[in-house]
Amino acid sequence: MLRLHVNVDHVATLRQARRVSFPDPVEWALRAESAGAQGITCHLRKDRRHIQDADLARLRSRVRTLLNLECSLDEEMVAIALASGADAFCLVPENRAEITTEGGLDVRREAARVRGVSERLAARGGLVSLFIDADREQIAAAADSGAPFVELHTGCYANARGEARARELERLREAAAFARARGLRVNAGHGLDYENVGPVAAIEGLEELNIGFAIVAHAVVVGVDRALAEMLAAIARARTP
Ligand code: PXP
Repeated sequence: MLRLHVNVDHVATLRQARRVSFPDPVEWALRAESAGAQGITCHLRKDRRHIQDADLARLRSRVRTLLNLECSLDEEMVAIALASGADAFCLVPENRAEITTEGGLDVRREAARVRGVSERLAARGGLVSLFIDADREQIAAAADSGAPFVELHTGCYANARGEARARELERLREAAAFARARGLRVNAGHGLDYENVGPVAAIEGLEELNIGFAIVAHAVVVGVDRALAEMLAAIARARTP
């Protein structure tokens, strides 16, 4: 079954716009779980622009599905991840100037660090995934790293239009098949929305989609229950033969 994990960073972004206590990403995550989310994802960034350390602790104590923490290779963030009790970890690149994560981790260049951090997180019982571009060399390096999962970066697909999007989709399909053939389990995410999620959800062997912005933005208009229901339905439609 393809699981939907909802990224709640964007709820915290709204709260941080005023530095007040609402909207609360933890309460929002619980509402998303009740509405059918099969996991909750958050990204504690070094600049703390959205999720705060206290949010992570509260998410850990209240999330009942699966808590996935996105984290960079920075030693401060790794130490927090190790102590967080999250169920899963997604290692991501982080660049202070970016609006959102811009590309995949360079697992080839960072091979030793990635392996070391993956091993330490796995020793705490966490499922580790590496957020990478749909690129054979990165997939091969990920397979060598010992991490069990990759999360394929779908941002290029989401940003492309027409034939370029079809090409990006084909890259994702090939990358998923190549990764699975190398023994990796495969997730995907970034930039997915109600209109573009179907073809990605239909890719064989995918286990989890991480979607944040589109669901939170839609929930502002239609409410959490309907935003989740519509995304779950879009995924289910794509998986129906
Ligand atoms: N996966 C990863 C690794 C991400 O960094 C993000 C963005 O935080 C997402 C998925 C979700 O992206 P979006 O908010 O565009 O759905």
